[in-house]
Amino acid sequence: MCGIVGYIGPKNAYPILLAGLKRLEYRGYDSAGIALLNGESRVYKCKGKVSDLENYVIGKDISGTVGIGHTRWATHGEPNDINAHPHVSMNGLFIIIHNGIIENYSRLKRKLEDRGYTFTSDTDTEVLVNLIEYIYMKGQVTAEIAVRLALTKVIGAYGILVTCKDEEDMIIAARKGSPLVVGVGDGEYFFASDATPIIEHTNRVVYLNDNDVAIVRRDEITFKTVMNVKITPIIQNLDLDIGEIEKGGFDHFMLKEIFEQSRAIEDTFRGRISHNPFNIHLGGLFHVMDKLINAKRIIIIGCGTSWHAGLVGEYLFEELARIPVEVEYASEFRYRNPVILPDDVVVAISQSGETADTLAAIKLAKEQGATVIGICNVVGSSIPRETHAGVYTHAGPEIGVASTKAFTAQVTVLSMIAMLLGHERKVISESEYQSLVSALIEIPSKIDIILKDISEIQKIADLYKNSNNCLYLGRGFLFPVALEGALKLKEISYIHAEGYPAAEMKHGPIALIDQNMPVFVLATKDKSYEKIVSNIQEVKARKGIVIAVVSEGDTVIKGLADHVMEVPLTDEALTPLLAVIPLQLLSYYIAVLRGCNVDQPRNLAKSVTVE
Ligand code: G6P
Repeated sequence: MCGIVGYIGPKNAYPILLAGLKRLEYRGYDSAGIALLNGESRVYKCKGKVSDLENYVIGKDISGTVGIGHTRWATHGEPNDINAHPHVSMNGLFIIIHNGIIENYSRLKRKLEDRGYTFTSDTDTEVLVNLIEYIYMKGQVTAEIAVRLALTKVIGAYGILVTCKDEEDMIIAARKGSPLVVGVGDGEYFFASDATPIIEHTNRVVYLNDNDVAIVRRDEITFKTVMNVKITPIIQNLDLDIGEIEKGGFDHFMLKEIFEQSRAIEDTFRGRISHNPFNIHLGGLFHVMDKLINAKRIIIIGCGTSWHAGLVGEYLFEELARIPVEVEYASEFRYRNPVILPDDVVVAISQSGETADTLAAIKLAKEQGATVIGICNVVGSSIPRETHAGVYTHAGPEIGVASTKAFTAQVTVLSMIAMLLGHERKVISESEYQSLVSALIEIPSKIDIILKDISEIQKIADLYKNSNNCLYLGRGFLFPVALEGALKLKEISYIHAEGYPAAEMKHGPIALIDQNMPVFVLATKDKSYEKIVSNIQEVKARKGIVIAVVSEGDTVIKGLADHVMEVPLTDEALTPLLAVIPLQLLSYYIAVLRGCNVDQPRNLAKSVTVE
């Protein structure tokens, strides 16, 4: 989704903005632009990558100590040079960059056209900047008042930075729905959609809340609401290491993040498990523990990979804690008038903590009286601030658009909650609890075993890189992993892939199987092992190619399948944490061999902040 950066201070803004835009590339975008102010304003923008913008400005005036920059992910109007941000108001007084959607833009646009405004782009953003200018000129008010008044007239979501020609030493930032962070430096201020571009300059940040406006001058920063009520900002010290958001010798962020999974899982349970005997402590859930233990139902919501983690959660909560679970796409949940009962607990899962549909679903659940728990990765993001309680995954920044370590960290948190609930509700015995926690502690070293030799996975990637379609099959705990494996392949290699419960294969997908169809089967030793062996035989009988993820030492499937990828044995409930790793790697290598942009796949965004 769109990325925003801004700078005001004593230094040249251009290099800071450029570096910031590069840090935000991971969010997904199709065009980029900047505005620099230095007695006069200059706007440079173009379709394509930040590197295209960099080439475009060669030889041009890039001076200025105030500036704003943007990466655009198209919503209104195709990706092209004109629709790229920044947008300048018709009389050149205001410049804006915007992340979000102005829903009532066409009505506002008509009104402005009636008053003589003309538009050059197809964007909703140009409507907003012209509205600000119209109010400024017509009402003879200050720039700050014009921005605030304009914002009271828009319906929708925005994170914006605005500059005004008449007050060049000022940037106005405002947020509703779309994230925005202000970095407080020494005599300088930074702005960004998330903290990644800021932390190399300062670790002191203020997260804007909905309806907050920051009026930032070189020597002064004022926070107020859109309705002009002053606010005292909470300055947070971020504990984020710059090394964590760099590639660290790997070719891509995705590969780095796949290899970081043992560390990410360990960090996620670190400090939350005590030894002798084992016990799980989740401080963030402390005050909702009674609600959870007595929940009549748990509703898990999320999107994309987080939804897949939620599906694993369903198996975990039902198996270990015997609480009925429903897993919902946040986008469906929020629009279908869901029945939420007083004893329901809603668990919202999100890596970014900013996904617009998940955020809206949380608000709906809260309005209906539900207790809402968040499982998020980005500290200080919108979802953890909106939920009643929660558990952070400590996976560290995830930059690759295809989620990997966030998924396994989410499943780790879900496993811990399920084990804790199962123990508290006396569904699992003390010895089962001890053995599950001990199995979880062993997961990181088992992941390292998988990652130690990936030559077979690379070989399989090479053999099947030109496939047009792939099928992923799994049962029980591994059905969600089949879905996740298929999603990983689709996202980054653009090969059509479908995940299915293995038994459902007979009700449709089996018709597709022939000698050209690779079928990835999750077939580790668990209670449906015999059944999955039969499914493999059904595929082979139709000349399909079987590539199976098996438990180490398996000989039966080795004799049946075309290829196997081994994972160590663990408790069945924790197998998703291991079985997903070969599938992530396989997608990665297939995408690399196909020459795809692994970290920034076409059309996708890391953080989907629009509906
Ligand atoms: C986008 C990303 C996915 C992610 C999904 C949900 O589609 O590309 O990787 O799983 O959003 O994001 P969230 O931040 O809520 O987990």
